[in-house]
Amino acid sequence: MNPIYERSRTVTVRPARADDVEIVRAIRNHAIEHSTALWTQTPQSPKEAVGWLAAHLERGSAFVAEADGEVAGFAAYGPWRALDGYRHTVEDSVYVREGHHGLGIGSALLTALIDAARAAGHHVVIAGIEAGNAASIRLHERFGFEHVGMVPEVGTKFGRWLDLTLMRLPLS
Ligand SMILES: CC(C)(COP(=O)(O)OP(=O)(O)OC[C@H]1O[C@@H](n2cnc3c(N)ncnc32)[C@H](O)[C@@H]1OP(=O)(O)O)[C@@H](O)C(=O)NCCC(=O)NCCS
Repeated sequence: MNPIYERSRTVTVRPARADDVEIVRAIRNHAIEHSTALWTQTPQSPKEAVGWLAAHLERGSAFVAEADGEVAGFAAYGPWRALDGYRHTVEDSVYVREGHHGLGIGSALLTALIDAARAAGHHVVIAGIEAGNAASIRLHERFGFEHVGMVPEVGTKFGRWLDLTLMRLPLS
């Protein structure tokens, strides 16, 4: 059996659909409100969520995990930086719904995302992770992402400075 599914046998990952927009927005906004995973305190509006997902649907770069028939997380990749010289590098994001952490869902999502980014011909995946986010760092290490740097105090939230850990996975 694929080790990814050992801890959560009912998880399936599929490409995101337009009708996933509200649950994906809810998962994202929960992370915005309660964590330093996303460095903003401004929730995503319904309109912004539609625009964000539409861009991903167009290039096939968003995925959702269903556990027991319900969406339990999402993952997406997009350009790391805007200038065209960076076009072979993408940045990933993975979010698992509260109450479903530690069950292998993040791993199942990241598997699908890496497969898709490789199939799309990308060269490198970057993860930019708040340095104290042990779960995300462990998740990425598990897939072979290497630590390539830590940039101190480049963000702020909840009244403190945030450090950014950069991790890198070559795809080709
Ligand atoms: C980070 C996140 C996506 C991981 O997803 P998950 O479904 O909980 O992860 P998995 O169950 O697939 O576990 C992956 C690895 O991380 C480890 N892990 C999970 N939670 C952990 C924690 N709190 N601390 C340390 N390691 C942890 C697991 O043990 C596993 O490693 P192992 O194979 O060596 O045992 C999830 O915790 C999450 O959504 N967090 C909030 C949003 C977030 O931080 N997203 C990432 C932004 S960069």
